[in-house]
Amino acid sequence: MQQEITPIAVRPWTLNGISERMLVSHYENNYGGAVRTLNAVRADLAALDAGAPGYRLRALKREEIIAMGSVTLHELYFGNLGGEGNKIPDRARTILEEHFGSVGAWRREFVGTARSLAGGSGWVLLTYSRRQRRFWNQVATNHTQAAVDAAPVLVLDMYEHAYHMDFGANATAYIDAFMRNIDWAAVIYRMDAVRADRSLPLEDPSDKALPSLSVEELAAQLAKGEPVQVLDARPRHHISRTVDLMEGAIWRDPDRVDEWIGELAPDRPVAVYCAYGFHVGCSVTKTLRERGFDARYIRGGISAWYATGGSRALRPDAG
Ligand SMILES: [Fe+2]
Repeated sequence: MQQEITPIAVRPWTLNGISERMLVSHYENNYGGAVRTLNAVRADLAALDAGAPGYRLRALKREEIIAMGSVTLHELYFGNLGGEGNKIPDRARTILEEHFGSVGAWRREFVGTARSLAGGSGWVLLTYSRRQRRFWNQVATNHTQAAVDAAPVLVLDMYEHAYHMDFGANATAYIDAFMRNIDWAAVIYRMDAVRADRSLPLEDPSDKALPSLSVEELAAQLAKGEPVQVLDARPRHHISRTVDLMEGAIWRDPDRVDEWIGELAPDRPVAVYCAYGFHVGCSVTKTLRERGFDARYIRGGISAWYATGGSRALRPDAG
């Protein structure tokens, strides 16, 4: 089964002291790379014939668990950013006090463990042991070291790609910024889920009420030659910072729908994307649907498209 890209869960332009550029690069290149690797490894596994030597199967299974770990940990990492980290809600405080003695004791160990990875790489996780029914902080020096029978509820990426662009080698400043941006509501949701023996929720911010397409579905439609009209509806201020868009797409200003709506073929479906799939693409899609078009927005926007390795084209007006 193909692993689909999950749209970035956090609004990347909203973080305090962590740049949109770094977060999006992390999502598209490192997370996207892990998803692409996982799909490639699974395809190789499926194609392996029964007579293949054990070392080939073993090597692929090793690569599979590395990519599986990276995919899930990155999704959890993006999903636990975007809040006011220093305002820990009472519900989380109570749980941390119960399992660590005090919030301060939890924080000292979590942050201290993260600092111990400065200059190296790995993950720091506040994790729940289902078997022992307790929370604890764990360190993972690679993607495969998540504890047995455990569910991470707070995930901190300590690989240099997570901070070098903004902070250079100053891992301490990055850790401080991460702590300021923890989304405790997401963490509490996970805590409740794992304590009730439910699976960890997927933090997918997509609007479920509006018809949409995943980037993989769009790619399949385009590969089949379906006559879909792909519309780039990123705001003018966003598109002015970039020189490329999805191959085959046309950019139109989302604030001036009335000026260009007549250019669209009314009998062909329209796929609308914005930067990340939060609201601009959705609002243009809504407008087009109200005007009778078979329009859908693309979940995760062009960032999810790039994360799958989707092709890009130079904007016609970009020198
Ligand atoms: Fe990462």
